[in-house]
Amino acid sequence: MKLAAVFSPALAFAGIVLAHPLEPTRTLQVDTRAPAANAPPNCFPALGFTMPSAVPSSLTNWWCSPSTEYAFVGFSYEVTECQSLTKLRTEFLDIRQRFKSRYVRLYGFCDRTGFYNDIVDAAWRAGVGVQALIWFGFDGTDEWIGRRDTLFATLHSNPKAKFVTRAVQFGSEPLFDWVLNPRDLITQVNAAKKNLSSLQIPVTVSDLAYSFKDLHASDGGPDVLKAIDYIDAHILPFFSTKASIANNSWPIVLSDLNYFISQAEGKKIWFSQNGWPSKTSSGVQPNSPSAVANVQNEQDYYKLLDKRCADLKAVAGGGVGWFAHIYSDNQEPGYGIYSTAGSLKFPFAPKTSTAVTISRSPTDDLARYLQNGNILAARTFILHFTSALSKDSDVPHVPVGSEDEVILTKDAVVNFSQLAVLTCQRAQGDKNKVMRESWVRLCGTYQSRGGILASPEVRAALNELANLYFAIPPPRSQAANPFGDMLSSLFGGPAAAQPTRRMLSPAGAGAPGLD
Ligand SMILES: *[C@@H]1O[C@H](CO)[C@@H](O)[C@H](O)[C@H]1NC(C)=O
Ligand SMILES: *[C@@H]1O[C@H](CO)[C@@H](O)[C@H](O)[C@H]1NC(C)=O
Ligand SMILES: *[C@@H]1O[C@H](CO)[C@@H](O)[C@H](O)[C@H]1NC(C)=O
Repeated sequence: MKLAAVFSPALAFAGIVLAHPLEPTRTLQVDTRAPAANAPPNCFPALGFTMPSAVPSSLTNWWCSPSTEYAFVGFSYEVTECQSLTKLRTEFLDIRQRFKSRYVRLYGFCDRTGFYNDIVDAAWRAGVGVQALIWFGFDGTDEWIGRRDTLFATLHSNPKAKFVTRAVQFGSEPLFDWVLNPRDLITQVNAAKKNLSSLQIPVTVSDLAYSFKDLHASDGGPDVLKAIDYIDAHILPFFSTKASIANNSWPIVLSDLNYFISQAEGKKIWFSQNGWPSKTSSGVQPNSPSAVANVQNEQDYYKLLDKRCADLKAVAGGGVGWFAHIYSDNQEPGYGIYSTAGSLKFPFAPKTSTAVTISRSPTDDLARYLQNGNILAARTFILHFTSALSKDSDVPHVPVGSEDEVILTKDAVVNFSQLAVLTCQRAQGDKNKVMRESWVRLCGTYQSRGGILASPEVRAALNELANLYFAIPPPRSQAANPFGDMLSSLFGGPAAAQPTRRMLSPAGAGAPGLD
């Protein structure tokens, strides 16, 4: 035991930085095919954008940056009824104008000749972008190959197609349905990226976290997430074994979101198939006896996402943009915003990124992100915060690991916060012993200087983070020497009966989903 070293005054602040044995960090993937972007409303499909009268000559400055596209972005829209062109035009306009949508995410299939040309026509008129879909069905048949070829041919031949097609999805849930194994799916994704590269159309796979993380954990599921350009996440908390009412579903959502964030390498995340049903049906059965399906809960779920808007905005890759699944009960029983009779089931006017305001204080945000386990949000926040500081030329930048850096300031709290976020980011509960010790040293050094970091409130919050990230048991008492207490827990001192540790990633949230 090297307690003396831990307390050594030789461990000055800079020493702690250097003593941080930081692991290599992930490199962010930058989509080099992404064209330049004008700011909203002067980019497609921003709210307020005016569609040009003629098809533009190039994609330069056409698409909005994904970093301006978070919060509600539009609807999942099932096309299995093969809507007429007239109906597509009417409903896409409704989607755009009544609900302030920017996108339609296609779901299901229609094999009618020229159908995707009709989609392009309706999308162009309404001014909405489209996430096109190569439908795989549920039963492992091969029709998707013909659908893929037809779609790609239209994307190349219709001059408007690349101006409204935001992405091509392989879906829905090809891994969950075992249609292709992950290796074959990756081959398809790579071939599609190549085929569509001249059109600058990104390629994704629309599926559940459970499919990548659990179902295909050992045959390459997570590698699929590396191959795709965007993450199209299915967030269907009603099916969780932990489901109760929608108001309680944020931990379930966050568990899946954190998984996707951990694999996304900075790519944009969409909640492509996302909602809560108002009733059960043969295809919609809960896996928890407490799960409640009714209109109130369907509405509460979307309210919850609105309430968490700041968290979703802070996710790396430009914030989470979410689709409501689905436009009408005629498309998926119980999930519609419209009833089968065509009336709104509840008032639906979710926030869009243009209407978002954050009013709380910055330190509240940081603490909340960390306590929610949303480490990347905390990271993004602190980066924004310190980038404002770094304009002072005399502020030293200290590189940490291969790409992180800490900006040393005259403010102990800012110094501490940056290091705390980086340390939490590298935590692995009690497995990464070195990071656990770094955490204790970091807290000890800063708390020993007094000030706000040594106040009882901040101590309590730091103890909670220590428990959450590093599995360090909470101190047995808020006695005179809480730091010593934390140390003795860390080094295996006797621990009284402990409350159950809160886990960052509730296990087993994944469960059979829709389709
Ligand atoms: C893209 O795929 C379609 C359908 O498979 C094919 O006809 C076309 O030649 C491909 N184009 C390119 C540029 O690879
Ligand atoms: C969910 O929370 C909202 C807002 O607090 C409340 O109005 C609603 O009644 C709650 N729903 C349920 C089912 O308890
Ligand atoms: C922040 O870090 C710098 C660089 O080590 C140090 O000189 C300064 O004392 C720190 N500020 C505070 C108040 O901790």
